[in-house]
Amino acid sequence: MIKESIEEAINTQANREFYSSYLYLSMAAYFESINLKGFGNWMRVQVQEENFHAMKMFDYVIARGGRAKLLPIEAPPTEWDSPLKAFEHTYEHEQKVTGLISNLVKLASSEEDYATYNMLQWYVKEQVEEESSASEILEKLKMIGEDKNALLMLDRELAQRVFNPPVVTE
Ligand code: FEO
Repeated sequence: MIKESIEEAINTQANREFYSSYLYLSMAAYFESINLKGFGNWMRVQVQEENFHAMKMFDYVIARGGRAKLLPIEAPPTEWDSPLKAFEHTYEHEQKVTGLISNLVKLASSEEDYATYNMLQWYVKEQVEEESSASEILEKLKMIGEDKNALLMLDRELAQRVFNPPVVTE
């Protein structure tokens, strides 16, 4: 049986993961509105990643005999000044999520809930990838600057991204 404090914290984090999904879906709409369909595709795949993150927590709470509770999802922003600004936001957002996961790890440890502590290690690893993929595109956008051809080349590259459900071993 899961402790109430842990159940509440995981339900809250699942909500933040659903918010991440909403945020990236809003970014997909932004990119597609400025005809950058490849960027839009990258964001749509990111939406699937975030839904996966949220559902893994939802399933975990249930598996531990707790009650998965769905909380209101905050409305995300709808406009960004440029692709660069959207990716600055993405990178900052992922850094924030890493901080939230670290807080959960601390809580699981102080509550001596080692099953939750183990489950969270998957997210610790996942956040390394989340930050690195956002930062890689952000750095490319900085290099691109005002070069429209280079931007279109990156758009074509991002159009190739497909969702591969992560293999869950923990
Ligand atoms: Fe669920 Fe992008 O971290």
